[in-house]
Amino acid sequence: MSDAPILGPLKHVTDLDAASDFELKHTPYVTAERDGDKVRVNVKVGHYVSHPNQPDHYIQWIMLYLGDAPIARVDFSPVASDPDVSIVVVAEPGERLRTVEYCNLHGLWAADVKL
Ligand SMILES: [Fe+2]
Repeated sequence: MSDAPILGPLKHVTDLDAASDFELKHTPYVTAERDGDKVRVNVKVGHYVSHPNQPDHYIQWIMLYLGDAPIARVDFSPVASDPDVSIVVVAEPGERLRTVEYCNLHGLWAADVKL
């Protein structure tokens, strides 16, 4: 996946210990549990610091990329749904999963994990 700006630059916080509350509020929290060739991936935005979920400020969607390939996307409505999802991914051990979320006010935020 390119980091080229489309909906704004992709922000990717890798040092959570040094991150601000604003950065922690937007950085996806990703866990992965392998069962054979399948991996249950849980993604939550607002885990480290709560993110608003109101019509004027909310998480619009979450996308998953396996390597560079887009493999899943979940769209949210404010108030009525919460950016906290579970998706089963078929992946080889060690493959990179990139999670990208889009906040309607603060743009694109990424987190990477090895599956
Ligand atoms: Fe935001």
